[in-house]
Amino acid sequence: MKKVLIVSSSLRGGSNSEILAHEAEKGAKDAGSDVEFINLKGKEIKFCIGCLACQKTFKCVQKDDMADLIGKVQNADAIIFATPIYYYEMSGQLKTFLDRCNPLFPQSNKFKDVYLITSSYDDAVGTADKAISGLKGWIECFEQSRFSGCLVGGGINEPKDASAREDLLQQAYELGKNA
Ligand SMILES: Cc1cc2nc3c(=O)[nH]c(=O)nc-3n(C[C@H](O)[C@H](O)[C@H](O)COP(=O)(O)O)c2cc1C
Repeated sequence: MKKVLIVSSSLRGGSNSEILAHEAEKGAKDAGSDVEFINLKGKEIKFCIGCLACQKTFKCVQKDDMADLIGKVQNADAIIFATPIYYYEMSGQLKTFLDRCNPLFPQSNKFKDVYLITSSYDDAVGTADKAISGLKGWIECFEQSRFSGCLVGGGINEPKDASAREDLLQQAYELGKNA
């Protein structure tokens, strides 16, 4: 069975990106995938300190929740990341999560399809471009993986705004179903 990992990075209650991520979860479950949903709220994930010890040992010198979370990335066939747009980029918490996946860089990994879901006040075309570009940079470092799609949830700002956006909920469901 295909394993789909969903990583939701917003820390606020009523998170729009998380509401969309849960729709993607429904779609992926309806498609018959084995879905795991993780939320970075309350997780201890320290910044990467750049020592590069992990390139030889395949594990981080820091002891925190990332030791468990990285195993979930390793076991996944597909990953859906969800992030609020902060200053036209991905959230700092998602970037830290990606940096802390550095122990995977020298290893062979199986996750292939990588998706992004964003939420933002701005509804303009290109609002999520820098976040997409950042994620693509990470994907380029894992040769078996590819950027497989993005849902740009624009025009949602207050908590739970996404719940009233049938268009975005539907797109998120479809993204999950195809993941
Ligand atoms: C620190 C910060 C920076 C933000 N920067 C942007 C931005 O550059 N463009 C934008 O459209 N919205 C911006 N927003 C608004 C959020 O993207 C928006 O409220 C989004 O729905 C939050 O998603 P969430 O509910 O999943 O956390 C920012 C919000 C915060 C807290």
